[in-house]
Amino acid sequence: MNQFRTVLSVFTIALLFTSCNEKKLTEVQVPLPEEEATTVQMGNPADIIANEGTFKMMPLPYAYDGLEPSIDARTMEIHYSKHHLGYINKLNEVIAGTELEKLTIEEILKSLDLENKTLRNNAGGYYNHNLFWSSMSSKGGGEPTGSLNTAIKKDFGSFSDFKNQLAEAANKQFGSGWAWLVTDKTGKLTIVGTANQDNPLMPNIGVTGTPILALDVWEHAYYLKYQNKRNSYVDAFFNVINWKAAEKRYDETVKKELPVKVL
Ligand SMILES: [Fe+2]
Repeated sequence: MNQFRTVLSVFTIALLFTSCNEKKLTEVQVPLPEEEATTVQMGNPADIIANEGTFKMMPLPYAYDGLEPSIDARTMEIHYSKHHLGYINKLNEVIAGTELEKLTIEEILKSLDLENKTLRNNAGGYYNHNLFWSSMSSKGGGEPTGSLNTAIKKDFGSFSDFKNQLAEAANKQFGSGWAWLVTDKTGKLTIVGTANQDNPLMPNIGVTGTPILALDVWEHAYYLKYQNKRNSYVDAFFNVINWKAAEKRYDETVKKELPVKVL
C-alpha cells in the first residue's frame, strides 16, 4: 500500500511539474504601456515680449525649428525665449531713467564704460544675439556672392580659408564668447573673438571693427544637441549662414564709413 502511495505521489508531482512548465510556455497577452509622446510642443517666437522699456525683442526671422537639423528647435526656443529675453529685460532695467534711453544700442556700446559690468553684459547680450539671429536663415548656407564674396577672397585667399579661420576662432575661444567677421572702414575683413558678451564695437577690448557675422559659442547655444562637441556645432553653423543679410550689412557699413568723393 505504501509503495502504491509513493508511486502515486511521484506521479502527481511529475504531473504538476509538467503542467507548470506548460503554463510557462503559454503566451500571455500583456497590455503594452501607452506610447509616450515624442513630440515636444514648441512655443511661438512672436509671443515673447520684453518688459516695458526702450528696447524690444527683434522678431526671430524663422520658426524655432527653422534651422533644423543644424540648430535644433529646443535650443533655439530656450536661447531666444529665456536667455535673450533675460538680456533685454536687464538692459531695459539698467538704462531706465538715464540718458542712455535716448541712444541706439550701437551708441551705448561705443560709449560703454567697461567697469559697468551689468550694462556691458546685457547691452552686449542684446546686440550680439540680434546679430546672431540675423546671421542665420532657414535657406542659408553655401557661399556669399557679390562684394562680400570678392572681399573674402581678397582678404582670406579663398572661401575655404575664410571658413577655416572663422571655425578656428570659434573653437579656440576659451569658455563663453563669440567669433566675429568684422570689417574696418576701408572694407577690409578680419576675424576676431571676444569673451562673454563683449563685442568689437566696445572700446578698449583689444579688437575693433563693425560686425558682419556673429557666431555664439556659449554652451547654451549648442549643448543640448552637440554636448561638448563645439566643433560640430561650428561646422553646422556654416549650413545656415544668411549670406544675403551679411552682404547687405557689409555694403551698408562700407558705404557709410567711406568718405564721399567730391568730383
Ligand atoms: Fe547666446
